[in-house]
Amino acid sequence: MSESKRLAGEKAIDYIEDGMIVGVGTGSTVAYFIEALGRVKQRIKGAVSSSEQSTARLQALGIEVLDLNATGPLSLYVDGADECDPHKRLIKGGGAALTREKIIAEASAKFVCIVDPAKRVDVLGRFPLPVEVIPMARSLVAREILAMTRGQPVWRQDAAGNGVVTDNGNVILDIHGLAITDPVAMESAINQIPGVVSVGLFARRPADVVIVGGEPPLVL
Ligand code: 5RP
Repeated sequence: MSESKRLAGEKAIDYIEDGMIVGVGTGSTVAYFIEALGRVKQRIKGAVSSSEQSTARLQALGIEVLDLNATGPLSLYVDGADECDPHKRLIKGGGAALTREKIIAEASAKFVCIVDPAKRVDVLGRFPLPVEVIPMARSLVAREILAMTRGQPVWRQDAAGNGVVTDNGNVILDIHGLAITDPVAMESAINQIPGVVSVGLFARRPADVVIVGGEPPLVL
């Protein structure tokens, strides 16, 4: 599995152009991309990062991390996914970084998604759908999502049993048991619930290119 993640991450380097500022996602597949980016860092101006974790990795390699407010629109965003359907619509947020990931995807002309083959599905929803929520709205949002989708919301906890806190100071609900036949409609319906910061469905703005790690990588 990690070998196909590495192959996907390294293939994404093909999309780097000289002088670029690169949007960088979060996760173990992206970690391979960051490692490869470090080897060509003299070609880029810097990166916009989607998480504290990726910022630390980028800075450790001497890649400057820039503020999206200062850079303006980006030409390229590279990120992983938890699931990917045949229309390049995604579930993301397994690493709890979905909100900043969604912001950078929206700001980017091209979104290259890097996945291992196990992430490909026909219908999204086997992976529990992450939703970032303002802490005081946790129970309200859970009740409304249950009524709306019949999926089971579970408050994400860390290994020590504490509620996970995102980089933005919020909590995550993971919605289990969904079969998402209309991801665009579900994305906008969940987004309407007061207290929802963002939902880990990337359907309104899907990936433009999906690289599936393998020997050779498959570019969709
Ligand atoms: C983080 C994400 C990741 O891209 C997703 O969880 C995939 O992670 P990995 O590459 O470790 O399998 O959305 O919020």
